[in-house]
Amino acid sequence: MRKLFFALTALSLLACNNQTSPENSEHMDSDSLVIDIHTAAKPQEAVVKHLHWDAVIEMEHKRILATAHWDIVNAGSATKIIFDTKGLKITRVTLDADTGAAGYKLNAPDPVLGSALEVSITSSTKRVNISYETQADAAALQWLSPEQTAGKRFPFLFTQSQAILARTWIPCQDSPGIRFSYSADVTVPKDYLALMSAKNPTEKNSEGKYHFEQPKPIPAYLMALAVGNIDFKPLGDRTGVYAEPVTLTSAAYEFEDMGKMLSSAEQLYGKYAWNRYDVLVLPPSFPFGGMENPELTFATPTILAGDRSLVSLIAHELAHSWSGNLVTNATWNDFWLNEGFTVYFERRIMEAISGKSYADMLAYLGYGDLKQTVADLNAENMQNDTRLKLDLTGRDPDDGVTDIAYEKGYLFLCQIEKLVGRPKFDNFLKNYFQGFAFKTMTTEQFVVYLKEKLITPESGLEKELNIQQWIYDPGIPEGITIPSSERFVSVEKQAGKFFSGTLPQQLETSNWSSHEWQYFLRFLMPNLDAQKMTELDQVFHFTATKNSEIAALWLQAAIQAEYKPAYAALDEFLMRVGRRKFIKPLYETMRKNTATKEMGKVIYKKARGNYHAVSTNTLDKLMGWPY
Ligand code: BES
Ligand code: ZN
Repeated sequence: MRKLFFALTALSLLACNNQTSPENSEHMDSDSLVIDIHTAAKPQEAVVKHLHWDAVIEMEHKRILATAHWDIVNAGSATKIIFDTKGLKITRVTLDADTGAAGYKLNAPDPVLGSALEVSITSSTKRVNISYETQADAAALQWLSPEQTAGKRFPFLFTQSQAILARTWIPCQDSPGIRFSYSADVTVPKDYLALMSAKNPTEKNSEGKYHFEQPKPIPAYLMALAVGNIDFKPLGDRTGVYAEPVTLTSAAYEFEDMGKMLSSAEQLYGKYAWNRYDVLVLPPSFPFGGMENPELTFATPTILAGDRSLVSLIAHELAHSWSGNLVTNATWNDFWLNEGFTVYFERRIMEAISGKSYADMLAYLGYGDLKQTVADLNAENMQNDTRLKLDLTGRDPDDGVTDIAYEKGYLFLCQIEKLVGRPKFDNFLKNYFQGFAFKTMTTEQFVVYLKEKLITPESGLEKELNIQQWIYDPGIPEGITIPSSERFVSVEKQAGKFFSGTLPQQLETSNWSSHEWQYFLRFLMPNLDAQKMTELDQVFHFTATKNSEIAALWLQAAIQAEYKPAYAALDEFLMRVGRRKFIKPLYETMRKNTATKEMGKVIYKKARGNYHAVSTNTLDKLMGWPY
């Protein structure tokens, strides 16, 4: 009875919504109405089920020529099906067996969402075929020149579809709540390998023709493609690594534990639902640390530290095979369901593999990030963005990508774990992943499920947890158990000694991992001057470090302290690396300090061409580009 009432209310809302906001899409989930404001699609009327993508990748012209053959379901008597596109040049649209052009209309573009493509259909239409070309500025695509690759000899292409960039290279219903399976036939110049978020080839073929199958239904943001001079090395039965030939050996060394990670993950939360788990190491301009494309995580080469110290990133992307790829946030307002769960899962994998003290360090560093993010957002008067459940109405979902989803989401799950105990929580999560596999989840549905299974009225825990506050209130709830790290207590001790005059060479640092070094630098940073930095550099050679996490912190400290001996390294780093998490704080810090402001602009001007659109989008605003 209650359900029926809700459905009726929801339907009347829908009717109302249609009049006021034609951009919005609504689709019926199992028992509620889900609205994704970032798609024009109306899946409750006509929805895609399978894609066959036929594509030619022109590396020279930096262009994709393709036809997207969409198998669709018309729910009733819809007269049109709506796709998202952005910057695509549509050349021809046909229905079913390709006879005769179909009627279609490309709407005026919205700066964030792009142009809705409305294709006329009838109730018997089963297939829509859309032929198109991508344009040079397609935001998902980064076309690298040979000089921008590790091998320096071949161009390279990779995509980044999350959050709503799939529509810049495939006309699609670009909502995380809409899933489809896919197959693809991709032609690339010979000497190149093509890879997708699907079952992948392991070697090049002479014709440059590759076929792909992804039989499991996935949302559009998990569509991915990479083309380049790429080789493969297996690491185990189910795991392997792809990289440019010059990077392959070091990548294989770094990721040796991947098989172990996969079995640890399965032991925690159930069987791996996909086929293989491979990682592709991209050139350094990749704007993220990692991206959980199904069966083929895309990763930055900046985690190749040479000592396997940054592999928790792989644990993170692997964990997304459950949290995100299997159970998917229904809209980008529910992004914390993807990332908070994944951070929790990542740290559990790392605990299983490297021990509790290791996972504690990760959690403590994450907590530091969270406090910083909350302070920054408060300072910018963006308190609302410190809530788990976001409101991204009228905004780019990329605005919601902050540490809140990751680290506040993580803390919320830790709090639940603490209240109910680990065995119960693990059981809950396992059932959650199984019960909602290949489905989408809203924050509200999760709360219902949580209250039904764990925080029941009988449990007496409702008051103590205060779900409402965690999800809908800004900031970090008070009185929570905050992460702590034994190993960092010793780091603080050494840092204190350094400040009271102990020479760097006398500090006890011999068995520090890269995380202890990171914490050491973070702890010192607010109080470092050029003199102190000189002392540290002489002994620890931070300016020359090959560890990207340490380098990024050290270079930020160098800008703050105007430590000039590191400026050449700063310039080199920003010219080479495009990972937004690293380069944004560096540019931000240069901008804040009048002594380094101009240098920031000079470097940005020459480095900008090396960055992916995801990074330039953020940095253009920050740096006041163009100039
Ligand atoms: N899925 C994210 C990356 C992402 C999020 C891309 C939102 C576009 C929009 C990925 O799993 C991720 O979280 N990457 C992190 C690494 C992780 C260890 C925190 C990153 O890239 O820094
Ligand atoms: Zn993630």
